[in-house]
Amino acid sequence: MQHIVIIGGHGKVALHLARLLADRGDEATSVIRDAGQSGDIEQAGGTPLVLDVEKADVDEMAEAFSGADAIVWSAGAGGGSAERTYAVDRDAAQRAIDAAAKAGVRRFVLVSWIGSTPDHGIDPDDAFFAYADAKLAADDHLRASELDWTILGPGTLTLDPPTGRITTAPQGEGEVSRADVAAVAAAALVQPTTIGRFIRFGAGETLIAEAIADTAIRTTGENA
Ligand SMILES: NC(=O)c1ccc[n+]([C@@H]2O[C@H](COP(=O)([O-])OP(=O)(O)OC[C@H]3O[C@@H](n4cnc5c(N)ncnc54)[C@H](OP(=O)(O)O)[C@@H]3O)[C@@H](O)[C@H]2O)c1
Repeated sequence: MQHIVIIGGHGKVALHLARLLADRGDEATSVIRDAGQSGDIEQAGGTPLVLDVEKADVDEMAEAFSGADAIVWSAGAGGGSAERTYAVDRDAAQRAIDAAAKAGVRRFVLVSWIGSTPDHGIDPDDAFFAYADAKLAADDHLRASELDWTILGPGTLTLDPPTGRITTAPQGEGEVSRADVAAVAAAALVQPTTIGRFIRFGAGETLIAEAIADTAIRTTGENA
């Protein structure tokens, strides 16, 4: 049994993940900022922990992570102002990474996005730039850490039902359901060959466990 802390616990991917972890006998602690979401977390089989990661410092986060086996970052500002995007998707994610190290939690799975590369090509005047820039900064911080990291790079997220299958060589925007992203995160947590890899993926035909275990697969960017 593993104890996983999911940051952004009431998110759509995160709720699927709590359910998957509970179903296989793992313990999920879901970090939320609104205590009113606790019932949904409990219904998914997780344990709510109220902590606003935009405000929490590294010590507060490290305390919350203490004793966990792994952290999954699945939070996000969800657009809005560039200021809040940087505050959550970059700064809070980076503090969470530092906090994991401080708490001695070595395993860290970060949900990024398919286009997260230094040459993402998004114009600084584009409203999407802050997200791309913030995510890349979080990815880089995790890659530079001493942690056992995995970065997930799903394409555009949908609310489609789970298929249990993906491709690590997605075409176009690489659409994939949030339920399948959660299944990829759950599988990565128990597949050591995913450590040190950025896995870009979309909906596809290969069973998730098989797709992420195949270390021969190389996709764009730093998928190594
Ligand atoms: N949308 C896409 O097409 C796409 C594509 C690739 C990757 N992604 C990434 O996939 C991940 C999960 O996506 P999703 O659709 O599951 O996201 P989501 O449903 O928008 O969930 C994000 C969660 O983060 C939480 N959060 C925001 N600020 C917080 C804070 N200060 N403290 C604690 N929690 C906070 C939100 O809580 P509140 O309910 O309190 O706001 C929300 O529950 C995100 O990291 C996103 O960037 C998205």
